Amino acid sequence: MSFAKHGRASSTRGVKNLNIVVVSPEKFGNTAADIVQRVTENTEAPNITFPTGDSPLPLYRELVNRYQHGKLSLANVQAFGLDEWGELEPGHPIRCISRMKTQLYSETDIPVEQIYYLEPNTDDLDVHCEAYDKRIADMGGLTLSILGIGINGHIGFNEPGSKATVRTRKIQLADRTLNVSQKYGFDKTPSWGVTLGLATLLESKEILILATGAHKAEIVHLTVNGPETSDVPSSLMRRHPNCTLLLDEAAAQLLKK
Ligand code: PGA
Repeated sequence: MSFAKHGRASSTRGVKNLNIVVVSPEKFGNTAADIVQRVTENTEAPNITFPTGDSPLPLYRELVNRYQHGKLSLANVQAFGLDEWGELEPGHPIRCISRMKTQLYSETDIPVEQIYYLEPNTDDLDVHCEAYDKRIADMGGLTLSILGIGINGHIGFNEPGSKATVRTRKIQLADRTLNVSQKYGFDKTPSWGVTLGLATLLESKEILILATGAHKAEIVHLTVNGPETSDVPSSLMRRHPNCTLLLDEAAAQLLKK
Protein backbone atom coordinates (compact mmCIF):
# COMPACT_ATOMS: atom_id res chain seq x y z
CA MET A 1 0.00 0.00 0.00
CA SER A 2 1.22 3.48 -0.65
CA PHE A 3 -0.48 6.44 0.96
CA ALA A 4 -0.48 9.99 -0.25
CA LYS A 5 -2.45 12.94 1.05
CA HIS A 6 -3.44 15.54 -1.55
CA GLY A 7 -1.32 13.91 -4.19
CA ARG A 8 -0.36 10.74 -5.93
CA ALA A 9 1.32 8.03 -3.91
CA SER A 10 4.97 7.62 -4.57
CA SER A 11 7.03 5.05 -2.69
CA THR A 12 5.93 2.86 0.23
CA ARG A 13 4.07 -0.24 -0.86
CA GLY A 14 2.74 -2.58 1.79
CA VAL A 15 -0.64 -4.06 0.86
CA LYS A 16 0.35 -5.17 -2.63
CA ASN A 17 0.22 -2.30 -5.09
CA LEU A 18 -2.71 -0.21 -3.89
CA ASN A 19 -2.18 3.52 -4.36
CA ILE A 20 -4.23 5.41 -1.81
CA VAL A 21 -4.88 9.05 -2.61
CA VAL A 22 -6.76 11.25 -0.14
CA VAL A 23 -8.06 14.64 -1.20
CA SER A 24 -10.53 17.21 0.07
CA PRO A 25 -14.10 16.90 -1.26
CA GLU A 26 -13.45 20.03 -3.35
CA LYS A 27 -10.56 18.37 -5.16
CA PHE A 28 -12.13 14.94 -5.55
CA GLY A 29 -13.72 15.42 -8.98
CA ASN A 30 -10.66 17.17 -10.35
CA THR A 31 -8.25 14.48 -9.18
CA ALA A 32 -10.39 11.71 -10.66
CA ALA A 33 -10.84 13.62 -13.92
CA ASP A 34 -7.06 14.06 -14.23
CA ILE A 35 -6.71 10.27 -14.21
CA VAL A 36 -9.43 9.77 -16.82
CA GLN A 37 -8.01 12.54 -18.99
CA ARG A 38 -4.50 11.05 -18.81
CA VAL A 39 -5.88 7.71 -20.00
CA THR A 40 -7.95 9.22 -22.81
CA GLU A 41 -5.04 11.32 -24.05
CA ASN A 42 -2.46 8.54 -23.89
CA THR A 43 -4.54 5.76 -25.44
CA GLU A 44 -5.83 5.63 -28.99
CA ALA A 45 -9.18 4.03 -28.15
CA PRO A 46 -9.46 3.43 -24.40
CA ASN A 47 -12.05 0.95 -23.12
CA ILE A 48 -13.41 2.47 -19.92
CA THR A 49 -16.05 1.19 -17.45
CA PHE A 50 -18.30 3.84 -15.98
CA PRO A 51 -20.18 3.18 -12.70
CA THR A 52 -23.31 4.88 -11.42
CA GLY A 53 -24.00 5.93 -7.83
CA ASP A 54 -23.08 8.98 -5.79
CA SER A 55 -19.30 8.41 -5.75
CA PRO A 56 -18.58 9.19 -9.42
CA LEU A 57 -20.81 12.28 -9.62
CA PRO A 58 -18.01 14.80 -8.89
CA LEU A 59 -15.93 13.08 -11.58
CA TYR A 60 -18.72 13.27 -14.14
CA ARG A 61 -19.42 16.91 -13.31
CA GLU A 62 -15.75 17.73 -13.88
CA LEU A 63 -15.51 15.75 -17.13
CA VAL A 64 -18.57 17.58 -18.46
CA ASN A 65 -17.11 20.89 -17.30
CA ARG A 66 -13.81 20.22 -19.07
CA TYR A 67 -15.62 19.13 -22.24
CA GLN A 68 -17.80 22.25 -22.23
CA HIS A 69 -14.71 24.43 -21.86
CA GLY A 70 -12.94 22.69 -24.74
CA LYS A 71 -10.30 21.16 -22.45
CA LEU A 72 -11.25 17.50 -22.91
CA SER A 73 -12.64 15.21 -25.56
CA LEU A 74 -14.05 11.74 -24.93
CA ALA A 75 -14.57 11.07 -28.66
CA ASN A 76 -12.12 8.17 -28.66
CA VAL A 77 -13.60 6.47 -25.57
CA GLN A 78 -15.32 3.08 -25.78
CA ALA A 79 -17.66 3.29 -22.78
CA PHE A 80 -18.80 0.16 -20.96
CA GLY A 81 -21.56 0.15 -18.35
CA LEU A 82 -20.42 -1.59 -15.17
CA ASP A 83 -23.75 -3.06 -14.09
CA GLU A 84 -27.49 -2.81 -14.44
CA TRP A 85 -30.64 -3.42 -12.41
CA GLY A 86 -32.89 -6.30 -13.40
CA GLU A 87 -36.68 -5.97 -13.59
CA LEU A 88 -36.76 -2.43 -15.02
CA GLU A 89 -38.05 -1.82 -18.53
CA PRO A 90 -35.69 -0.30 -21.12
CA GLY A 91 -35.60 3.48 -20.81
CA HIS A 92 -36.56 3.43 -17.11
CA PRO A 93 -34.94 6.55 -15.57
CA ILE A 94 -33.37 4.59 -12.68
CA ARG A 95 -31.58 2.21 -15.03
CA CYS A 96 -27.82 2.68 -14.91
CA ILE A 97 -27.63 3.36 -18.66
CA SER A 98 -30.31 6.06 -18.34
CA ARG A 99 -28.40 7.78 -15.55
CA MET A 100 -25.08 7.46 -17.38
CA LYS A 101 -26.63 9.18 -20.40
CA THR A 102 -27.94 12.03 -18.27
CA GLN A 103 -24.84 12.45 -16.12
CA LEU A 104 -22.10 11.98 -18.73
CA TYR A 105 -22.70 10.42 -22.13
CA SER A 106 -25.22 12.94 -23.52
CA GLU A 107 -23.26 15.83 -22.03
CA THR A 108 -19.96 14.98 -23.75
CA ASP A 109 -18.80 13.85 -27.17
CA ILE A 110 -18.71 10.08 -26.61
CA PRO A 111 -20.27 8.75 -29.85
CA VAL A 112 -23.44 6.69 -29.19
CA GLU A 113 -22.05 3.79 -31.21
CA GLN A 114 -19.17 3.59 -28.71
CA ILE A 115 -21.47 3.11 -25.72
CA TYR A 116 -22.00 -0.47 -24.54
CA TYR A 117 -24.19 -1.64 -21.69
CA LEU A 118 -25.67 -4.73 -20.15
CA GLU A 119 -29.31 -5.42 -21.09
CA PRO A 120 -31.06 -7.54 -18.43
CA ASN A 121 -34.24 -7.94 -20.54
CA THR A 122 -32.58 -10.43 -22.83
CA ASP A 123 -33.88 -13.88 -23.72
CA ASP A 124 -30.61 -15.61 -22.97
CA LEU A 125 -28.87 -13.50 -20.35
CA ASP A 126 -25.95 -15.92 -19.94
CA VAL A 127 -25.17 -15.64 -23.65
CA HIS A 128 -25.54 -11.85 -23.48
CA CYS A 129 -23.11 -11.62 -20.53
CA GLU A 130 -20.61 -13.91 -22.21
CA ALA A 131 -20.82 -11.78 -25.36
CA TYR A 132 -20.16 -8.62 -23.29
CA ASP A 133 -16.95 -10.13 -21.90
CA LYS A 134 -15.96 -11.37 -25.35
CA ARG A 135 -16.51 -7.95 -26.88
CA ILE A 136 -14.23 -6.44 -24.24
CA ALA A 137 -11.60 -9.13 -24.82
CA ASP A 138 -11.80 -8.72 -28.62
CA MET A 139 -11.32 -4.96 -28.17
CA GLY A 140 -8.11 -5.56 -26.23
CA GLY A 141 -9.47 -5.65 -22.67
CA LEU A 142 -10.36 -2.80 -20.39
CA THR A 143 -7.97 0.13 -20.28
CA LEU A 144 -9.43 1.75 -17.16
CA SER A 145 -12.06 0.40 -14.78
CA ILE A 146 -13.69 3.15 -12.76
CA LEU A 147 -15.46 1.63 -9.77
CA GLY A 148 -17.34 2.55 -6.60
CA ILE A 149 -17.48 0.49 -3.39
CA GLY A 150 -20.75 -0.56 -1.78
CA ILE A 151 -20.90 -0.37 2.03
CA ASN A 152 -20.75 -4.18 1.97
CA GLY A 153 -17.65 -4.12 -0.25
CA HIS A 154 -19.43 -4.93 -3.48
CA ILE A 155 -17.74 -3.91 -6.70
CA GLY A 156 -20.28 -3.29 -9.44
CA PHE A 157 -22.88 -5.85 -8.35
CA ASN A 158 -20.23 -8.39 -7.40
CA GLU A 159 -21.73 -8.93 -3.98
CA PRO A 160 -19.96 -10.57 -1.00
CA GLY A 161 -19.13 -14.16 -1.91
CA SER A 162 -18.01 -13.23 -5.44
CA LYS A 163 -14.67 -14.80 -6.26
CA ALA A 164 -11.90 -13.07 -8.19
CA THR A 165 -12.48 -15.52 -11.04
CA VAL A 166 -16.14 -14.67 -11.75
CA ARG A 167 -17.15 -13.24 -15.10
CA THR A 168 -20.02 -11.04 -16.18
CA ARG A 169 -23.32 -12.51 -15.02
CA LYS A 170 -26.72 -12.21 -13.40
CA ILE A 171 -26.58 -11.97 -9.60
CA GLN A 172 -29.01 -11.78 -6.67
CA LEU A 173 -28.54 -8.49 -4.86
CA ALA A 174 -27.50 -8.48 -1.19
CA ASP A 175 -29.90 -7.16 1.45
CA ARG A 176 -27.60 -4.24 2.26
CA THR A 177 -27.50 -3.27 -1.41
CA LEU A 178 -31.30 -3.39 -1.56
CA ASN A 179 -31.56 -1.19 1.55
CA VAL A 180 -29.08 1.38 0.25
CA SER A 181 -30.73 1.44 -3.16
CA GLN A 182 -33.91 2.88 -1.66
CA LYS A 183 -32.20 6.22 -2.31
CA TYR A 184 -32.93 5.84 -6.02
CA GLY A 185 -36.69 5.96 -5.43
CA PHE A 186 -37.70 2.58 -6.83
CA ASP A 187 -41.41 1.71 -6.71
CA LYS A 188 -40.24 -1.87 -6.17
CA THR A 189 -36.51 -2.51 -5.77
CA PRO A 190 -35.22 -5.15 -8.21
CA SER A 191 -33.95 -8.28 -6.46
CA TRP A 192 -31.25 -8.99 -9.03
CA GLY A 193 -28.88 -7.28 -11.39
CA VAL A 194 -26.21 -7.97 -13.98
CA THR A 195 -22.60 -7.02 -13.47
CA LEU A 196 -19.23 -7.09 -15.10
CA GLY A 197 -17.32 -9.86 -13.35
CA LEU A 198 -14.36 -9.35 -11.05
CA ALA A 199 -12.09 -11.36 -13.36
CA THR A 200 -12.79 -9.04 -16.28
CA LEU A 201 -12.23 -6.00 -14.06
CA LEU A 202 -9.01 -7.40 -12.61
CA GLU A 203 -7.67 -7.84 -16.17
CA SER A 204 -8.03 -4.10 -16.71
CA LYS A 205 -4.75 -2.25 -17.30
CA GLU A 206 -5.66 0.25 -14.63
CA ILE A 207 -8.31 0.53 -11.90
CA LEU A 208 -9.66 3.66 -10.21
CA ILE A 209 -11.87 3.09 -7.16
CA LEU A 210 -13.82 6.06 -5.81
CA ALA A 211 -15.20 6.40 -2.29
CA THR A 212 -16.51 9.45 -0.47
CA GLY A 213 -18.17 10.18 2.86
CA ALA A 214 -17.96 8.95 6.44
CA HIS A 215 -20.44 6.11 5.72
CA LYS A 216 -17.71 4.52 3.56
CA ALA A 217 -14.94 4.78 6.20
CA GLU A 218 -15.50 1.30 7.66
CA ILE A 219 -15.57 -0.52 4.32
CA VAL A 220 -12.58 1.47 3.07
CA HIS A 221 -10.68 0.39 6.19
CA LEU A 222 -11.65 -3.26 5.59
CA THR A 223 -10.78 -2.99 1.90
CA VAL A 224 -7.29 -1.77 2.73
CA ASN A 225 -6.45 -3.46 6.04
CA GLY A 226 -8.76 -6.45 6.32
CA PRO A 227 -8.12 -9.92 4.92
CA GLU A 228 -8.14 -10.32 1.15
CA THR A 229 -11.37 -12.26 0.84
CA SER A 230 -14.37 -12.74 -1.41
CA ASP A 231 -16.49 -11.81 1.65
CA VAL A 232 -15.28 -8.27 0.89
CA PRO A 233 -14.94 -8.19 -2.91
CA SER A 234 -13.29 -4.74 -2.83
CA SER A 235 -10.35 -6.30 -0.92
CA LEU A 236 -9.66 -8.49 -3.97
CA MET A 237 -8.77 -5.39 -5.96
CA ARG A 238 -5.56 -5.14 -3.90
CA ARG A 239 -4.01 -7.84 -6.03
CA HIS A 240 -4.13 -5.56 -9.08
CA PRO A 241 -0.75 -4.03 -9.97
CA ASN A 242 -2.11 -0.60 -10.92
CA CYS A 243 -5.06 0.25 -8.69
CA THR A 244 -5.73 3.70 -7.22
CA LEU A 245 -8.15 4.14 -4.34
CA LEU A 246 -9.26 7.77 -4.42
CA LEU A 247 -10.87 8.91 -1.16
CA ASP A 248 -12.09 12.08 0.39
CA GLU A 249 -10.98 12.77 3.95
CA ALA A 250 -14.19 11.42 5.50
CA ALA A 251 -13.92 8.08 3.72
CA ALA A 252 -10.24 7.82 4.71
CA GLN A 253 -10.73 8.66 8.40
CA LEU A 254 -10.10 5.11 9.73
CA LEU A 255 -6.90 4.59 7.76
CA LYS A 256 -3.60 5.03 9.58
CA LYS A 257 -1.64 7.99 8.35
P1 PGA B 1 -22.47 4.93 -4.19
O1 PGA B 1 -22.58 3.41 -4.63
O2 PGA B 1 -21.42 5.54 -5.04
O3 PGA B 1 -23.83 5.52 -4.47
O4 PGA B 1 -22.13 4.95 -2.75
C1 PGA B 1 -21.40 2.66 -4.75
C2 PGA B 1 -21.75 1.22 -5.00
O5 PGA B 1 -22.75 0.73 -4.47
O6 PGA B 1 -21.00 0.55 -5.71
